[in-house]
Amino acid sequence: MLSQIGNRSIVLVGLMGAGKTTVGRRLAARLGLPFADADHEIEQAAGKTIPEIFEEHGEQYFRDGERRVIDRMLQEQPRVLATGGGAYINEATREAIARNGISLWLRADFNLLMKRVRRRSNRPLLKTADPDAVMRKLIDERYPVYAHADVVVDSRDVPHDQIVQSCLEALAAHLGNQHSSGAASA
Ligand code: S3P
Repeated sequence: MLSQIGNRSIVLVGLMGAGKTTVGRRLAARLGLPFADADHEIEQAAGKTIPEIFEEHGEQYFRDGERRVIDRMLQEQPRVLATGGGAYINEATREAIARNGISLWLRADFNLLMKRVRRRSNRPLLKTADPDAVMRKLIDERYPVYAHADVVVDSRDVPHDQIVQSCLEALAAHLGNQHSSGAASA
């Protein structure tokens, strides 16, 4: 599969709680590719946590940094890259991913997302009186955009390795289709 992936990165997109980082790390190990987490890189570059960046500079500042960091990372080397939930919503980032990567949407339903995000309090967007309502709104706004991803995998409430296996199968199917359509038109 690596030769078909070529110079591209596998870019995981989807909402907070979908499992992008956990699944991404294991997917990278299975593929023999390096793993990186864009949110982590943004924090390193800023020398601040994401909640601190939101609090001290606001969301727009975070979004600008997010776009720049992901653009840079996509040009560095092929790898599995987990992105923050808002990254793929930015048109320039979507285009950069389309140029340099294969996008994989980890799709999860509301209940699973809320179950996962409740465990941690590091997400500024959910620090509101009604996180359920925010999550529902984000699902409505973002799912039509995530749907543009090259590959879609349902993130279910099962051990992560099963989701990793589904990702590998979906990627193989996508790459196989690309290969055969390329061959047909050659
Ligand atoms: C965000 C998701 C977060 C992080 C930031 C904003 C979003 O990443 O980038 O809090 O807009 O959905 P995760 O999806 O990894 O939680």
